[in-house]
Amino acid sequence: MCFIPHCPAIRISVCSPLMSTIDRKRATSFRRKIRRFYKRHGRVLPFRQTTDPYCITVSEIMLQQTQVDRVVPKYEAWVVKWPDWQSLAGATKQELLAMWSGLGYNRRALYLGQIAQTVVEEYSGRLPDDPAELIRLPGIGRYTSRAILIFAYNRPLVTADTNIRRVILHELDLPPSTSASEIEDIAEQLLPRRDSRNWHYALMDYSSLALPKRLVAIPPTTKQSRFQGSIRQIRGEIIRHLTVRKSVRVNTIAESMERTKEDVQKAAENLAREGLVEVRGSTIRLVE
Ligand code: ADE
Repeated sequence: MCFIPHCPAIRISVCSPLMSTIDRKRATSFRRKIRRFYKRHGRVLPFRQTTDPYCITVSEIMLQQTQVDRVVPKYEAWVVKWPDWQSLAGATKQELLAMWSGLGYNRRALYLGQIAQTVVEEYSGRLPDDPAELIRLPGIGRYTSRAILIFAYNRPLVTADTNIRRVILHELDLPPSTSASEIEDIAEQLLPRRDSRNWHYALMDYSSLALPKRLVAIPPTTKQSRFQGSIRQIRGEIIRHLTVRKSVRVNTIAESMERTKEDVQKAAENLAREGLVEVRGSTIRLVE
């Protein structure tokens, strides 16, 4: 057994690269610090006022790639329009995309519609609570499946997105090279197993409110090029048009955005490859 020299105060013993054990006293003081912060500064958010698996799923999918303050009003409007799986299962693609507008990564809206149909048709209107089944649903990966089980059922599981990883790295003074799976292993040891829900809220809030981004920067796994960014803008505009009319022409988008027809065509084909739209000549329409 050896100790990470970088970190004399924390004494994380390393048995193998993937097996780190945390000193109990350190774990206790880490938990106390995070909980104390949460008690004083924890955010009151509408999706934290419920444990309904439907509301939790909607919010977690919205939060996948969008900031909390942009999600809040969209989440509130969504659950008023579609309060449960049954009502959501009847929504059209156009309605889903219209309600999603402003959140970006539109496919997530369609995933929610597909999940609702599967829940109603195959699970008698109840979201499965088995992680292996959850992860088979569209738009739900490892992180989201665990987040749903934690926030809906207080399941003693760990989920560590970039924000939670930042807290663990910073507070335990771990080297930036520590792998995601090693951090998850450490998070397991820190988890108060009977209070998983509040613990994860607390870690998220500590990361967002107490840790300036520049202090613990975790490099993004993918970097978006300028070209990809601009195509994304055109994709958004195409979808915006298709939420209010059945079809739109490449020319219309090109003119309204002052972009070339070639760029718009490329963005439309990009959406078509993902199965969101179909492109016939220069006419773009939603796939029904
Ligand atoms: N509260 C519940 N889920 C959350 C999330 N994914 N990000 C921030 N706060 C949350």
